[in-house]
Formats: sequence, C-alpha cells, structure tokens
Amino acid sequence: MAVWDKLWGLLFLLAGAVGQTVIYPFTSTCAVRGSTVTLPCTFTPLKSFSDGQREVPLKIVRVLWCQNNVFCLRPAPSVWDTDSKTSDPRYQYLGDMKTNCTLQIRDVQQRDNATFRFRMEADNPKGHFTNMIGVTVRVDDGSKMRIISSSDDKKLSRGETVTLLCASVCTFHQLEVTWFKDGHALSETGPSLLLCSLNAEDSGSYTCALKTNMETVSEPYSLQVEAGNLDKLTVVRLVLFSAHMLLIVTVASIIIKRTCCLQVRSRLAEETRETASRRH
Ligand SMILES: *[C@@H]1O[C@H](CO)[C@@H](O)[C@H](O)[C@H]1NC(C)=O
Ligand SMILES: *[C@@H]1O[C@H](CO)[C@@H](O)[C@H](O)[C@H]1NC(C)=O
Repeated sequence: MAVWDKLWGLLFLLAGAVGQTVIYPFTSTCAVRGSTVTLPCTFTPLKSFSDGQREVPLKIVRVLWCQNNVFCLRPAPSVWDTDSKTSDPRYQYLGDMKTNCTLQIRDVQQRDNATFRFRMEADNPKGHFTNMIGVTVRVDDGSKMRIISSSDDKKLSRGETVTLLCASVCTFHQLEVTWFKDGHALSETGPSLLLCSLNAEDSGSYTCALKTNMETVSEPYSLQVEAGNLDKLTVVRLVLFSAHMLLIVTVASIIIKRTCCLQVRSRLAEETRETASRRH
C-alpha cells in the first residue's frame, strides 16, 4: 500500500538523519463535517545531546499541534498545547509526552480543512522538533452517507440476518450515526445495523445520517422481507412441530380410546355382576 511505502520512507529518512522523529502513518485524510477524525502520530524525542564536553540529557517539556503553520512557532496559535489549557475542546490529545502524539478532532468543522503538524519542545532548544509534512485534513461538506448491505439481494427471506453499514466516501473512526426506518429514528447509534432473524416487520425504507450533521442523510435503502420464502431452519422447525403435533394427537387418541375401553369394560363387568347376583 502506498501509505505504508510513504511511512517507511519517512521513517528511514528521519531516523537516519536526526535521531528524533515524528511519524504520521497517514499524511492526508478526509472527514465529513460533524464527524470525528483521528490523526495517528508517534514520535521519538532526542534523548541527549553533546555540548562538546559531555552528554546532556533532554526532557520533553511541551508538545503541541498547530494548523497551517510550517514550524508551529509562536505566535501562531496552536489547536492543542500543553502550555495553554484554553484550547478548543473539539481537539483532544490522545497522546503523551513520550512516544504517542495522536490527535483527535471531534465535530469536524469547515475550518479544519487544513494541514496539522505536531511539535515537541525539550528543556533545551536542541530537542525541539516539528515534522513539517503534517497531516492534511480535507473536510468533505456536501457528501451524503450511504448504506451498504451485507447481502446483495434486497429481497430477503424470513429468518435471515443482514447487516447494514452506514458509510461515507471518507473513512473515519468512531462514527456516530442515527438510523431511521420509514422516517422514525431507531435506537442504534453505531455505523452498522444488525437485523437478526428477519420478519415481515423489518421490511421498510432505511436511511442513516451522522448524528451531528443531518444534512448527510443517505439515500433510502429499501429492504423487503419475503414471507413466502421459507428458509431451511423454518422448514425443519415446521416439520418437527408437525411431527410433534401428530405424536400428541396419536398418544391422546390412544389414551382416550383406552379410557373409553376401561369404562366400557368396568360397566360391563358391573352389569355382569348385577345380573349374576339377581340370578342367585
Ligand atoms: C496512541 O494513543 C491512542 C489513544 O490512546 C491509541 O489509540 C493508539 O493506539 C496509540 N498509538 C500507539 C502507536 O501506541
Ligand atoms: C480544503 O483544502 C484544500 C487543500 O487542502 C483546498 O484545495 C480546498 O479548496 C479547501 N476547501 C475548502 C472548502 O476550503
């Protein structure tokens, strides 16, 4: 995959050259407005430097992400910064001060259509570093979600299982969607809707949209569950049920017959005794 080629290329280039690295596995991504996008990132700080006489250890004291600024230098505003706690809560730093610099952007807005870069700063400027390549986020505004079914067939049989996936042209993580059936919202919020052992009531028109952006509502996906077509499991169940019923009827009739016979026999016996006693 081209992305991995890029990643490894970058890794060798940076690791060989400077000993401190910032790696973005994906240097570009796209996100639908209102969605959440994660920018994976790892970094390796410089452990120490030589001041001519001795090795001076380095410690990372500040990490930040900035937007549209090649070196993330002040006074350019950063979207996330350990030095400033007043940043927009839409930007969440999932990383740490050691190796992980992953940034997550929630509720993506048009102004996130930009290049984001990570910068680390150590207790000595020798340890400062920005990866200028950055991650370019393209915010896709007009695009709609679409529904992908696990079955090619839109006419499904009763008892079958189908999964509907709410997807967009941009791939992203932690997708929160709203599912609708015939215009009514369902409780499911994940990107996949599992419909188990279908029955006629599952038939209908399904749509989905990003929870935070109803303009992304998909084209309707019409699902039709055919009542007539019995699947194997239902046939087996029906046969077993019929056999069971037949058995019950047979046993019942035998019991009824026996009971009748017993009653008749005992009555006959009584009558015989009565006649016999009358004769004596
Ligand atoms: C970085 O942290 C994020 C969030 O905790 C995690 O999902 C990701 O796997 C981590 N990356 C690495 C390379 O450890
Ligand atoms: C988003 O950024 C790209 C470059 O990355 C640019 O070509 C495009 O015009 C921008 N779109 C909007 C709506 O600003």
